[in-house]
Amino acid sequence: MADTVNRGRRKFLTGATSVVGALGVAGAAVPFVKSWVPSAKARAAGAPVQANIGKIEPGQMITVEWRGKPVYIVRRTPEALEQLATRMRALVADPDSKDDIRPAYVGGDARAIAGHEEFLVTVGLCTHLGCAPKYRPDVGARDLGGAEWLGGFFCPCHGSKFDLSGRVYKSVPAPSNLEVPPYRFVSDTLIVIGEDQETA
Ligand code: FES
Repeated sequence: MADTVNRGRRKFLTGATSVVGALGVAGAAVPFVKSWVPSAKARAAGAPVQANIGKIEPGQMITVEWRGKPVYIVRRTPEALEQLATRMRALVADPDSKDDIRPAYVGGDARAIAGHEEFLVTVGLCTHLGCAPKYRPDVGARDLGGAEWLGGFFCPCHGSKFDLSGRVYKSVPAPSNLEVPPYRFVSDTLIVIGEDQETA
């Protein structure tokens, strides 16, 4: 895994939080969502990172850096969550996340913490050779399969596709779903990446 991560870092050059929304793909202006990022020294030490998720609109994604890796946080719409549990299951290779890297408390079709299903938190490094997949929430995108594209992530390096839960499509180069890092909710608007959610 470390090898994959290191290769992926070459592709991840941003040190600042960024946000991409459904309209962002088309180049329209989207609001900047600010989140707290620790000092460079703390990041190098692998410190947990807090992310303010309170201003992410449904359909938007922010990116934060954790241990030198991009972590994507997507707020999914109710419609998207429904599709993940229905139509998407036939299109992805590992719908039940049986062969990927994720904490035990993350599961279901949403690949999220129970009670917080609308938020996906995933490492933005392709499981093929570590490129950073692009957020493509535009349902029905003709260049990504038209009716079979229900929104997700597209890796332009070799064409791998992932759904909005980070599950890899069938018949693409990437061998497994995107990694989900440890994370926990401090409140409904604040999460910490790099620390585990307490479970009952
Ligand atoms: S690195 Fe993503 S498809 Fe090859």
